[in-house]
Amino acid sequence: MLVSGKELFEDARRGGYAVGAFNLNNMEILQAIIEAAEEERSPVILQASQGGLRYAGLEYVAAMAKAAAAKATVPVALNLDHGTDFSQVARCIRHGFSAVMIDGSQLPFEENIAITKRVIDMAHPNGISVEAELGMIGGIEDDVVVAEKDATFTDPDQAAEFAERTKCDALAIAIGTAHGVYRGEPKLDFERLSEISKKTPVNLVLHGASGISEEAIKKAIPYGIVKINIDTELRQAFAQAVKETVKNNPDEIDPRKILGPAKQAMKEAVRAKMRIFGSSGRA
Ligand code: G3H
Ligand code: ZN
Repeated sequence: MLVSGKELFEDARRGGYAVGAFNLNNMEILQAIIEAAEEERSPVILQASQGGLRYAGLEYVAAMAKAAAAKATVPVALNLDHGTDFSQVARCIRHGFSAVMIDGSQLPFEENIAITKRVIDMAHPNGISVEAELGMIGGIEDDVVVAEKDATFTDPDQAAEFAERTKCDALAIAIGTAHGVYRGEPKLDFERLSEISKKTPVNLVLHGASGISEEAIKKAIPYGIVKINIDTELRQAFAQAVKETVKNNPDEIDPRKILGPAKQAMKEAVRAKMRIFGSSGRA
């Protein structure tokens, strides 16, 4: 069955590795993620954004994830990614999600604290972990759109106060990553990450990790990063495989023959991330 995000975060913190959280919005993506976790013997977080849930249907995502977790021989959590709407979070909890993110990063500080605490009051009694966000991560992740000029890095003192007052299980921070495809080499603010890590013991989450170098990822994890989000690189693997299949087999009409190679490509992408995050072999 699905495990709480908190269980995965704590094991990752103790073990000095991070668990990959991979976005999905259809069956093939979910299967690719789970097959990768099985082959890597890695814990894994399945996640869907509000846009992904609108596309696939909350009931379908929840049912597929629960079916996958029931069969899996590795720990699997199901997370709502970038939940911005309290009732959406409540619906996910009612459908059996084992982790939720309430993204109040675009709200004033006190309102972010208030909605995060409101979600925690609903989630924690059900054994469900809560991730919050402080600081605004740039880029576009479905419903969450932040222009580069509006992206604001996380303030270490505010992060400590936020974690202490909300008791969130994990905190997504803005230290230079952005959602989507990077234009140029992203520069992570390790000074800031180090400051945050010194000021608060809260588990940290890195969003916008597609396109971040292996070296930067490995440098960030020891500062308390326990969850790393990947969506764009799966989309790229999917799209490239489908385009290649269609180009090489223009008369192919069987969805299994068109989506099968894409599933394989996404699986390999996920496996490679698990090895970089250090979660391989930890199940
Ligand atoms: O919440 C999802 C991730 O932050 C997506 O990040 O666009 O770098 O894959 P990505
Ligand atoms: Zn994100």
